[in-house]
Amino acid sequence: MPSFDPTDTGFLADPYPTLAALREEAPVFYEESLGRWFVTRHADVRACLRDRRLGRNFRHVGTDEEFGAEPLAPRRQAFWDTERWSLLWLEPPEHTRIRKLVAAAFTPRSVESLREPAEQLARELLEPWVERGRMELLHDYAQPYSIAVICRLLGVPTDRGRDLLDWSHAMVKMYEFDTSEEQAEAATQAAADFRGYVLELIAERRREPREDLVTALVEARVDGSRLSEPEIVSTIIVLLNAGHEATVNTLGNGMRALGRRPEQWERLVEGEVPSAAAIEELIRWDPPLQLFERWVLEGGVEVAGHAVPRGEKLSLLFGSANRDPRVFADPDRFDVGRENAAEHIGFGGGIHVCIGAPLARIELEASLRALVEQAPGLELADEPRRNPAFVIWGLEGLELSLATT
Ligand code: HEM
Repeated sequence: MPSFDPTDTGFLADPYPTLAALREEAPVFYEESLGRWFVTRHADVRACLRDRRLGRNFRHVGTDEEFGAEPLAPRRQAFWDTERWSLLWLEPPEHTRIRKLVAAAFTPRSVESLREPAEQLARELLEPWVERGRMELLHDYAQPYSIAVICRLLGVPTDRGRDLLDWSHAMVKMYEFDTSEEQAEAATQAAADFRGYVLELIAERRREPREDLVTALVEARVDGSRLSEPEIVSTIIVLLNAGHEATVNTLGNGMRALGRRPEQWERLVEGEVPSAAAIEELIRWDPPLQLFERWVLEGGVEVAGHAVPRGEKLSLLFGSANRDPRVFADPDRFDVGRENAAEHIGFGGGIHVCIGAPLARIELEASLRALVEQAPGLELADEPRRNPAFVIWGLEGLELSLATT
C-alpha cells in the first residue's frame, strides 16, 4: 500500500486521483505514519457511520492510554470545555438526550419557515455585487449569507457576525492533521472568547425570553431537568460553527466546478436542471468535509472483512466514497443532472447524521437559484485559490465576474 499523506501539497492540489487509486487498491488500509485506518469505499463508509460499536469519542468507555490517544492538554482547557457537550463529541446516552432537544427545535416546520427569508436574503445580498459586476464569492456573499441565516434560526444578533466567523475559522483548525501550536493557541483563545459571548447571550435570554432557539435551549427540560450552562454553551457553539463552515465551502467548491464547466452552468440557466437537484451533485463531487473519524469502542469489529481492534481510529473518507464507481457511474464527471447524486455521504449517517442538512439544502438552493437568476452570465474571473487543508475542504477565495445576460 503506498503511503498516504493528506498534508502533501501535490495531493491537496487535486486529491481525487490519489483517492481513486487508494480506493481501488483496498477498501480499508492502515497508515503507519498517522497511526490510523482509512476507509475508502461508499458501502463501507456508510456501514461504519451506522455501526454503534464505533464512536466519535471513547472517553465514556476507556482511558487515553487504552486508546493510544494524546491526553487533552490542560493549557487547551478552554477549547475542550466548549467541545465537552458538543453533539459532535458525545455518544449515547448523553448524545441522545441533547440531540433530542436540538431536534425538537429543528422541526421540519421551523426549518421550512426559514425558506422564504433565506431566499429573500440571497437576492438582497447578491444585488449590489451584481450591479458592480464582480465579487469574491466567499467573503462578499457566502459567509455573511450563511451567518445571517444561522443567526436568524438561533436568534443571535448579526452585529457580531465578523467575530463569529473569526472564532469559528480559528476553532475548526483543531481538526486538521497538521495543526500548529500557533493555530491551537488561536483556537483556544477563540473558544474562550466565543464562550464569553454565548454566556452573555444566555443571560440576556434568561432575563428576556424570545421566540428563538437560544431561549428554547435555556428553557428546555429533559426528564424534568434543565440543560446545564456548559451544555447550552457547547450546543450553541456547535450549531453556529457547523452551521456555516460546510455550507460556505460547498458553495465555493460547487461554483468553482460550475465556473469551469460552462455547459453545466448553462443547464441551470436554461432551467433544464433545477437548483434543488444540482446542489446534491455539488456536495457529491467536491464535498466540504473530506473525512470524519470514529474510534473502535469494542472488540470483534470488522471493516470490509478486515479485523480492526478496539482502541483503533478510523478515518472515513467521504470525498473518496462520493466518487466510488460502485455507486456513481463515471464518478469523476461533474453532472448537475446526475440522478442518484443524493446518495452522496456528504451529510454523514447514523446517529450523528447532520441535523442541519434540511437547512443547508435550503441555503444552497436559494443561493444557487439567486446566482442563476441574477447573474446568468457569470464566469470565473481568476484562478480559484484553495485552502491548503484537507479535512475542512474549501477555497480561500473565488473571484467571479457577474453578468446579467
Ligand atoms: C452543506 C452543508 C453541511 C454539510 C456538508 C454538513 C455535514 C455534516 C456531517 C458529515 C455531519 C456528521 C459528522 C459525523 O458523522 O461525524 C454533520 C453533523 C452536524 N451538523 Fe452538519 N453539515 C452541513 C450544514 C450544517 C448546518 C447548516 C448546520 C446547523 C444549522 C449543521 C449542524 C450540524 C450539527 C449540529 C451536527 C452534529 C450532529 C450530531 O453529532 O448529532 N450542519 N454535518
